[in-house]
Amino acid sequence: MEEKKYFLDTLRSTRRNGVESVIAGLEELGFFTAPASSNFHLNVDGGLLLHSNNVCREALALREKQIEMKPEVEVLLPVESVIIAALLHDVCKAEVYKKAIKSRRLPSGIYEKYEGYDVDYSAFPMGHGDKSVIRLLQWCLEMTDEEMLAIRWHMNAWNLPFQDPESKGSFSMAQLKTPLVALIIAADGLASHVLER
Ligand SMILES: [Fe+2]
Ligand SMILES: [Fe+2]
Repeated sequence: MEEKKYFLDTLRSTRRNGVESVIAGLEELGFFTAPASSNFHLNVDGGLLLHSNNVCREALALREKQIEMKPEVEVLLPVESVIIAALLHDVCKAEVYKKAIKSRRLPSGIYEKYEGYDVDYSAFPMGHGDKSVIRLLQWCLEMTDEEMLAIRWHMNAWNLPFQDPESKGSFSMAQLKTPLVALIIAADGLASHVLER
């Protein structure tokens, strides 16, 4: 499977301690066959894998462009960090979608059954980006502070209006600390809304 090969080859190219344990953990949770969502983008088997790869492709392309426009940011955006944060930002979703027979109303008024997904967060209700970081730490992946911040805060642009002042403050500081946060947010948005539309 091409997408799985891209994911594994790219992740292993970082030569980071813990990568093999992450891959084993992802296999166990069903990451490679999971959808990316229940009702929205890539809600098909393998959708989460494709989305993760797309975020990585976008993030690597954005990195090149930022360095072309501002060469001094190269040192702040190591390729391995971009790969780790992009490929692994959504590992929190690996076990939350369960196959289910659903029902929908057709324009004719008739209801039909189709194979979809239910969402079940009960296995480990630990949030989203924060859950991804914690899962990766459970699998003993060696990560820099910058990588953890980028994974932790990747959804925050969407959550900002609903957040408490402390979280808003931490998010601003995370963005000041490393451009990897902004890069992963941008790559996630472009993958979801351009490549996967
Ligand atoms: Fe996410
Ligand atoms: Fe994502």
